[in-house]
Amino acid sequence: MEYLLGIDLGTSGTKTVLFDLEGVPVASKTVEYPLYQPQNGWAEQDPLDWWNASVEGIKSVLGESGIDSSLIKGIGISGQMHGLVLLDKGGNVLRKSIIWCDQRTGAECEEITQKVGASRLIEITANPALTGFTASKILWVKNHEPEVYEKTAHILLPKDYVRYMLTGEFATEVSDASGMQLLDVPGRKWSDEVLAKLDIDKALLAKVYESPEVTGAVCQKAAEVTGLKKGTVVAGGAGDNAAAAVGTGTVVDGKAFTTLGTSGVVFAHTSKVSIDPAGRVHTFCCAVPGEWHVMGVTQAAGLSLKWFRDNFCNEEILAAKGMNKDPYYIMDAQAERIPIGCERLLYLPYLMGERTPHLDPNCRGVFFGLSALHTKQHLLRAVMEGVTYSQRDSLEVLRGMGISIEEMYACGGGGSSPLWRQMLADVFGCPVKTVASKEGPALGVAILAGVAAGIYASVPEACCSIIKTNPAQNPVAENSAEYEKFYSVYKSLYPALKENFAKLSSL
Ligand code: XUL
Repeated sequence: MEYLLGIDLGTSGTKTVLFDLEGVPVASKTVEYPLYQPQNGWAEQDPLDWWNASVEGIKSVLGESGIDSSLIKGIGISGQMHGLVLLDKGGNVLRKSIIWCDQRTGAECEEITQKVGASRLIEITANPALTGFTASKILWVKNHEPEVYEKTAHILLPKDYVRYMLTGEFATEVSDASGMQLLDVPGRKWSDEVLAKLDIDKALLAKVYESPEVTGAVCQKAAEVTGLKKGTVVAGGAGDNAAAAVGTGTVVDGKAFTTLGTSGVVFAHTSKVSIDPAGRVHTFCCAVPGEWHVMGVTQAAGLSLKWFRDNFCNEEILAAKGMNKDPYYIMDAQAERIPIGCERLLYLPYLMGERTPHLDPNCRGVFFGLSALHTKQHLLRAVMEGVTYSQRDSLEVLRGMGISIEEMYACGGGGSSPLWRQMLADVFGCPVKTVASKEGPALGVAILAGVAAGIYASVPEACCSIIKTNPAQNPVAENSAEYEKFYSVYKSLYPALKENFAKLSSL
């Protein structure tokens, strides 16, 4: 028996899964770590936490499965995108990573737009200057911590730091590199023009590969600390969304998925580059060599529900412990008892600013329509509905671009809730399916590792034989009609509040 290993470096924790060659998980381990928020709108993590979580995960799956590590034929790494990891020339971490949901770089985004030109930037990087993306974070460090920037010898993305620790190689791949805002996305290579205009030395950046290519092999030091076999190949892997695409078989035109993870994403595959000239959704290279994807992002999807759980649901957390269940299971049951529209209560999920469709780092969360009648359960359901409306905003932009969406899948933690999936089906007005495997990005990168190791012929072929789907949840016409009324009020709230969000953020 041979195996593949998938490591998915998320925002709340790193999940390491050992798969057999049919994509069946054999052992799995998730290790959590903290998110630091030193100021409102800032978000940082410690790269060493990611590495330690990966080591613990690898050791745990090797121990649990009892297999000989020489039977692992390839390793794939997926991870949260956009985070900035700075290393000195000895490979030491210079500061905490400024991660994807950090919003401190408004001024640097203006600097980028002014230096590159708004339309030229979209032409090359397929996206407008965004606070979430890596380029503005690099400029922020240059502007605010020049002493750190001076010592910087290597700039990496989160999962590529774990790759460096595993292999000693400074490498990345096109799907994650697309989110740095330094890649020529149609050309799939670093943009000399953007780098020159932003005065970033190309030598600081990693070598770019396609996602299913071999980028290196486990080195002696990593073999010693993890128990992996020295020389095991490490594939390019993919950013978490491109990896989830492989793990759900979203690798051909017509297929799309919605993730309800910490962030929320509506993602569609496209074999031709398709760019929204208004920059409301991202166009990135995908994990299928020579193809792309388009996606809209809700900054705080699962993060909204996690915020609600952590701040208001102590009782549910305790009850869940007693029942040996996940608190979200109990929260789902409570939300289910509240009618659609939460008796006229709406939630805007802008806890960490918003990307699609507003591109606004200054907006923040809102409960709108609170009455003395409302209970905690109403607020809970309003959070779920608000996140779903925000995903609908993304879907509308994709539909408007003429992207073909024939099959929609749901994934991520929230995708495992039947209530949330039904909301998606009703609010999107289309059937929503799930895939049999719950391992999404980890399975996706294990498949990429299998292609890199020569076990599978291509990404689409591997997906075709490995990914199995469950029956769809269909929209219920009366529910859709009811949600539609609230969605129309939801849509009108951001424009009405835009100016006040800006005022509030300047206080
Ligand atoms: C995508 C994005 C998030 C992160 C964290 O652009 O910022 O999906 O990758 O999951």
